[in-house]
Amino acid sequence: MNKLMVSYIIFVFAIIALYGIAYADVISEIKGGKQIFMNSKCNSCHSIEIEDIEAKVKKNPAADLSKVDKDYSIEFLVKYLSKEEKLNEKFHPVGFKGDKQNLNELTTWLKSLNNSKCCN
Ligand code: HEC
Repeated sequence: MNKLMVSYIIFVFAIIALYGIAYADVISEIKGGKQIFMNSKCNSCHSIEIEDIEAKVKKNPAADLSKVDKDYSIEFLVKYLSKEEKLNEKFHPVGFKGDKQNLNELTTWLKSLNNSKCCN
């Protein structure tokens, strides 16, 4: 094997390793978001059909969030859940209790929900 070949192989492995790290990060963020959703008890009021999450309240549950990725930006969701922005002239009934990083993970996860698998 000549030198060029060796450096080429090292180069390719480096790319794969870096990609793997970046991808693993995305995955853990997604898992984290769902965890935060459950820990924050968002599921008391909201279902997310495509994630098999059922709302705890059976009477007048709030909107299913399966398609929320289509309707709102992350920036909006962050502000709305911090009660800094209104939707239909109303603030969200509960403010998010966790820190900024958790809120970012949660909203990133909501945006990642793949509504193409889902409902109407
Ligand atoms: C006490 C009940 C309750 C809890 C708990 C709750 N929500 Fe809500 N949420 C509502 C209500 C009521 C609305 C207003 C619109 C509606 O009826 O869905 C709303 C609206 C929303 C919307 C906009 C939905 C849309 O399509 O218009 C999002 C996104 C949302 N909530 C996310 C969350 C997240 C994330 C959590 C957890 C941090 C959470 N909510 C916790 C009651 C709740």
